[in-house]
Amino acid sequence: MVALRFTSLFLLCTSFTALATNLPYKVTAPKGTSTLPSLTEWTKNFLTAVVAAPSEDAANAGFDAYLADNVTISYNDMVVARADYVAMRVAHGFPPTTVTVNQTIEVPTVANSSQAGIVSVFFTAAIGSQVAIASMDLVIKQDTSLRTGPGCDHRRIYGLTQVQA
Ligand SMILES: *[C@@H]1O[C@H](CO)[C@@H](O)[C@H](O)[C@H]1NC(C)=O
Ligand SMILES: *[C@@H]1O[C@H](CO)[C@@H](O)[C@H](O)[C@H]1NC(C)=O
Ligand SMILES: *[C@@H]1O[C@H](CO)[C@@H](O)[C@H](O)[C@H]1NC(C)=O
Repeated sequence: MVALRFTSLFLLCTSFTALATNLPYKVTAPKGTSTLPSLTEWTKNFLTAVVAAPSEDAANAGFDAYLADNVTISYNDMVVARADYVAMRVAHGFPPTTVTVNQTIEVPTVANSSQAGIVSVFFTAAIGSQVAIASMDLVIKQDTSLRTGPGCDHRRIYGLTQVQA
């Protein structure tokens, strides 16, 4: 299953690369800037992908795109295995959900680089008629085990500390 996931990601990135090569013009990032979304934007995309996922398939795809296989998770000071964390999310179901990010702090590992770092986020999720308030501290690194092309985003979450009321 893991091999299948890597394969499909690989194909996805290769086809994007092929697509880009076929364009009649070349998109080049200005010198010194990165085409990667900032660590904070990436974190917001992660929250939307998993917290506001419309279905179990979408949630699973979101977790695979953002959580390292080897992630260490703490939920209200309890160590939770990756599979249990995913199961917890699935057990909550998929009512219409909106995520509002209230506050973030971003500390890149290397100054001005979006490749790796720590993001702390405070957010509010309106899940159906309920409201959940939570904070997450995320340790984001490059996942060198991903066998995807150089154009792909290789950032994954290796540490996730969640506090939720
Ligand atoms: C997973 O994480 C543990 C603890 O951080 C580390 O010792 C181990 O080498 C990691 N395994 C992989 C495959 O990255
Ligand atoms: C976070 O944002 C939501 C939506 O705007 C707001 O209702 C809530 O009061 C905010 N929470 C804090 C602690 O600022
Ligand atoms: C990071 O960017 C700021 C603002 O552009 C600049 O002043 C600083 O020198 C840069 N630091 C490094 C290590 O590149």
